Amino acid sequence: MSQPTLRNADIDAVLNEAKEAYVTRNPRSLARYVEATTVMPGGNTRTVLHYAPFPVAMARAEGCRMWDLDGAEYIDFLGEYTAGLYGHSHPVIRAALDRTLNNGISFGASNLTEARFARAVCDRFGLERVRFTNSGTEANMLAISVGRVFTRRSKVMVFYGGYHGAVFGFAGGGSPINAPFDYVVAHYNDIDRTRALIDAHADDLALVILEPMIGSGGCIPASPGFVTMLREQTARIGALLVFDEVMTSRLASGGLQSVLGIRPDLTTLGKYIGGGMSFGAFGGRADIMELFDPRRTDALPHAGTFNNNVLTMAAGLTGLTEVYTAEAAHALNVRGAALRDRLNALCRSADAPVQFTGIGSMLAVHTQRDPITSPEVAAKDDAKLKELFFFDMLANGIWLARRGMMTVSLPIGDAECGRLEAAVQEFLSTRQSLMV
Ligand SMILES: Cc1ncc(COP(=O)(O)O)c(C=O)c1O
Repeated sequence: MSQPTLRNADIDAVLNEAKEAYVTRNPRSLARYVEATTVMPGGNTRTVLHYAPFPVAMARAEGCRMWDLDGAEYIDFLGEYTAGLYGHSHPVIRAALDRTLNNGISFGASNLTEARFARAVCDRFGLERVRFTNSGTEANMLAISVGRVFTRRSKVMVFYGGYHGAVFGFAGGGSPINAPFDYVVAHYNDIDRTRALIDAHADDLALVILEPMIGSGGCIPASPGFVTMLREQTARIGALLVFDEVMTSRLASGGLQSVLGIRPDLTTLGKYIGGGMSFGAFGGRADIMELFDPRRTDALPHAGTFNNNVLTMAAGLTGLTEVYTAEAAHALNVRGAALRDRLNALCRSADAPVQFTGIGSMLAVHTQRDPITSPEVAAKDDAKLKELFFFDMLANGIWLARRGMMTVSLPIGDAECGRLEAAVQEFLSTRQSLMV
C-alpha cells in the first residue's frame, strides 16, 4: 500500500468534518433511520436512496422545495430522479387526482381514461401502439420479452454502465439479481467494437436496448454516430432496436429519439409521464405490439393489476396534455441547458476538475477533467471529491442524488438556479486546495 498523499489526508479530514456536521444537523433523521433498520434491511426499501452515514428523511414538499425531518429546507434539484418533473403537488395534476378519487379507484375493469392517455402517449412519442405497466423496470422486462418472442432469438445486447431497472443493472457489467436473459454486454459509444459484437452475434441477437443518454450512470449522451450505427446494424441483421427513454423522454417533446432522428422499433417509458404516480409503458411498432392483442388465439399474455389504474391514467393524461406541452418541454430543456452551461463556466474559471454533463433538464456532476464519453470514463471520477460535493450541497440547502445527478423541474425558476450556482461557486472556492 502506498502512503496516503497529503491531499488524501486533507480530503479525508474535510469529509469527516462535513459528515459530522451532517450528523449534528439531522438527529431526527438519524432516529428514524435507526428505527427503520429494525424492519427493513439497512433501513431501506430503495437502494439508491441509501448513503452513509444515514439518509435524510423528507417530511414535506411543495413546488420545488422540501423540508426534512429536522426542519431544514432544500431546493429539490433531484426531482425524484426525473419522475418529479411537475414538482410537488402541481395544482393542475392535483385537481385531476382529486376529481378521479371522487369516482372511486381500482375498478378491475377498463376505464374511460386509459385509451385517451394511450393516444396522448402514442401521439407524443411516435408510437403505433402502447401498453402500460407499473414501473420502468416492468416496461423493460416486457419489451425485452416480446422482442425475443418476435425475433425468435435469445440474446439481448446491453451496455456497460446502463440501467434499465431493478433487475437490469449494468453498472459494473451486471448484477447478481439481474433477470436471467442471455446478455451481450457492449461498450457505450464505442462504434467499432459494438459493430463487431453485433456481427459476432448476428444470428441470435434478438435486440439491442440502450438509453439514448445514459441517465443514472452519469448523464452521458450517446453520440449521433453511435445510435445511427446501432439503427443500421440492427436493421441489417433483423434484430430490434429498443430505446429506454424512461428518463430521457423528458428531454424533448418527442423524446430524445426525436432529437437524434432515430426511430427505434420499441420504446420504453416511465417516471414523470405518470404525472407523479407509479408508471411504466412500452410501445412502438404495431406488428410487434399486436402480439399482445387478446383477440388472437396465440396472444401473448400481459397482466398487471394496476396497469390501467385510474390515478396514473388521470395524472399522466393531464400532465402530458395540459402541463408538459411541447412548448413547455422546449422551454424547460432550454433552461436546463443554460444552467449547465453556466455551471460549467464556473468550473472552467476556477480551473477545477469538476464538470456537469447532460442534456437539457438532466445533469450530473463529474469530478475529473476528461470528457465524459462513456461510463468507463465516468468511473474514474474522484469519489471523495464527489462525496464532499454532495454533503456541501446538502449543507447549502440543495437536494440532489448522492451520485451527483440533478434535474430541473418545472417549478424551478431563476432564483433557484441562482442558489445552485452560488452553492457550486462556494464549493469551488472553499474546496479549491483539495482539488488536484
Ligand atoms: C433508464 C431507466 N430505465 C428504467 C428505469 C426503471 O424504472 P423504475 O424505477 O420505474 O422501475 C430507470 C429508473 O431509474 C431508468 O433510469
